[in-house]
Amino acid sequence: MSGLTNKRIVLGVSGSIAAYKAPDIVRRLQDLGADVRVIVTDGGREFVSERSLQTISKNKVHNNLWDKEAELSMGHIEIAKWADVVIIAPASANTIAKLCHGRADDLLSTVILATEAKIMIAPAMNQQMFAASAMKDNLGLLKARGIDIINPGFGDQACGDVGEGRLAEPIDIASQAAELFTSSLLSGKKVLITLGGTREAIDPVRFISNHSSGKMGMALAHACIQAGAKTTLIVGSISIELEKRAEIIQVISAEEMYQAVMKQIDNQDLFISCAAVADFRPKKVSKNKIKKDNQSMTIELIRNRDILASVCQLKKKPICIGFAAETENHIINANNKLIKKQCDAIILNDISQTEIGLNADENEVHLITKNRTEKIEKNTKQIVAEKIIDKLVNNFFNPS
Ligand SMILES: Cc1cc2nc3c(=O)[nH]c(=O)nc-3n(C[C@H](O)[C@H](O)[C@H](O)COP(=O)(O)O)c2cc1C
Repeated sequence: MSGLTNKRIVLGVSGSIAAYKAPDIVRRLQDLGADVRVIVTDGGREFVSERSLQTISKNKVHNNLWDKEAELSMGHIEIAKWADVVIIAPASANTIAKLCHGRADDLLSTVILATEAKIMIAPAMNQQMFAASAMKDNLGLLKARGIDIINPGFGDQACGDVGEGRLAEPIDIASQAAELFTSSLLSGKKVLITLGGTREAIDPVRFISNHSSGKMGMALAHACIQAGAKTTLIVGSISIELEKRAEIIQVISAEEMYQAVMKQIDNQDLFISCAAVADFRPKKVSKNKIKKDNQSMTIELIRNRDILASVCQLKKKPICIGFAAETENHIINANNKLIKKQCDAIILNDISQTEIGLNADENEVHLITKNRTEKIEKNTKQIVAEKIIDKLVNNFFNPS
């Protein structure tokens, strides 16, 4: 397993204006498979509601060191022992200074002293505060003690200043936490993944496309990177953020995706065709915007090249994995696709169910190879992706 699957993360939220981003950090950590419990300082409570954090984390939010119920079982020790990682994001200047001195005057600082877990902090403050010598010395001291600093970004600040001190992006905070658990399942391997939908132009403003969000492909990308693979993504239209640790090539149409794949395919060990590529494109693309003068119109479509089948026919081909999005006769259709395209495995999605598959946050798939069909039960796309990568490694790179 890779990512943050089954990892227990305590997120400490302190009194920075950036605390309003904490619910998003919780989501990003959960997307990678983590169970998250939140401790919010009194300062943090001024900027984000406990209710939001509780609803999103699906766990009780902790604030009070003197909580009578929790202290029956020594709540601060229980949380400190529970955590695999403690991340303070945002980390205020005050909380950072307290960590340096080993203060234990609230729940968060007490947990930090009491935990054996890895500690990461993401400072967020006004650029002048961040540039202050005291802050530099404090961060240097914490780094020397083995605490990971997630560097803030540069840019516009809530106070109107421009400079260094903006909280790192929630997706980057989650990715850095996941890096702590990188495995070597695919170390030394190169992986190429296509994802998202393609757009086939009708005229300069209109196109034919589909509902693909790119979530499953991006989850596979996270899983491959966590497993140590050098990962390249060929990305069509998506509704999610790009994985910064991958090499990214952005394309629009199916033909552009075909060209990009063929350019990258040499020396890849694994090719995962996860994009929802349009089978057809308009034969003619109008140079000018088409006017609505007529009551009806016909668009003639012609076939696009089949990217997966083309890669499977290469003399020197990587392990090739396709996706089959089916609405009926699922297993039969997926097996036919496996044979017809001559790929090594098909991942079957049942897209007749709206809560899984295209554009959904969860998925349930079957991994179909020549010899067997294995079901991966319904779960978040990230966990499903990690299970797919584990199974692909076992089937093709590490067969027992
Ligand atoms: C409107 C406002 C915004 C603030 N923003 C920040 C900030 O972004 N970063 C920071 O370090 N402190 C900021 N502070 C100061 C902290 O909230 C203050 O130092 C507080 O004592 C921090 O408490 P804590 O570290 O226990 O959460 C801000 C204060 C106010 C009133």
